[in-house]
Amino acid sequence: MYKILEKQVLSDVTKLMVVAAPHVARNAKAGQFVIVIVDEQGERIPLTIADHDPVAGTVTLIFQEVGKSTIQMGTLNVGDGFYSVAGPLGHPTEIEEYGTVVCVAGGVGIAPMYPIARDLKRAGNRVIVIMGARTKELLFWEDKMAAVSDELIVCTDDGSYGRKSLVTEPLKEILTARPGEVVKVWAIGPTIMMKFVSWTTQPFNVPTIVSLNSIMIDGTGMCGGCRVAMTEGAKFVCVDGPEFDGHQVDWANLMSRVQYYRDEEQAAVEHWQQARDHVCNLDRVGITD
Ligand code: FAD
Ligand code: FES
Ligand code: MG
Repeated sequence: MYKILEKQVLSDVTKLMVVAAPHVARNAKAGQFVIVIVDEQGERIPLTIADHDPVAGTVTLIFQEVGKSTIQMGTLNVGDGFYSVAGPLGHPTEIEEYGTVVCVAGGVGIAPMYPIARDLKRAGNRVIVIMGARTKELLFWEDKMAAVSDELIVCTDDGSYGRKSLVTEPLKEILTARPGEVVKVWAIGPTIMMKFVSWTTQPFNVPTIVSLNSIMIDGTGMCGGCRVAMTEGAKFVCVDGPEFDGHQVDWANLMSRVQYYRDEEQAAVEHWQQARDHVCNLDRVGITD
């Protein structure tokens, strides 16, 4: 069992967990992910390593509760554990001294962007971070991002905090106002956001790296579940990625693939909630199922 050592509620639907996983923590690098199985019957879900401590042997995971497995994870507490945490998987981010770089993070994508921004800063880059979410409640780690960036722009779609705009607006302004200054952009967030970031940077010819969140099953390159269509042919996100050139991604194909199992996912969450309510009712009347 992989014990949960710390739990923080970052928003109604966003949780942080520090988990004991020494073999992962020893080898992890920014940009990599793990595959978590919540319990013996659980499915395999990929989650980015938001932070890690090789000495303490821990990894930090931040997840948004969007369906059966992540809602179930959110019900666990300190002292509970996961059945499996496999990793680190995927290629690490290529950290070099590039010059001025922009890191664009949306929603739960703020978590995986943090170690990338931190390592880019440590490597001597001038780091501009643009972070955004639908609304103030979904923002977190502004202080941590401020500590690793030279410029931090915070946006919300509804204007409840920071600038009222999508993350692409300040990005376009920077690229327009300071031609040639930004040499590379990273984007992590919802697929639609990464698509529009890539479309924003393309006319400026600024290389743009996106961290793709295609559906994964085995995480070893064998099942084909995470296949993405790219200009240069098909790639597997688990073994070839998760980072890719955003200007080469077939976004329409990816967006349809990530929604492929919506009906089954909806049924799974309803089934799990009914089973949980049934056990709670039996507990209330003192009957063991
Ligand atoms: P479901 O109801 O099963 O699915 C909801 C949606 O999540 C689906 O429509 C689909 O788009 C996606 N999804 C479902 N199953 C999978 C799967 N096996 N693999 C990938 N996506 C799936 N989310 C976070 O909150 N934090 C992270 O740090 C994070 N890192 C990720 C890193 C990678 C490399 C990838 C590929 C995905 C990452 N995700 C992350 C997304 C996360 O894996 C899904 O939100 C999660 O699997 C949903 O499971 P569920 O059962 O709760 O929801
Ligand atoms: Fe199976 Fe990538 S998850 S090939
Ligand atoms: Mg699921």
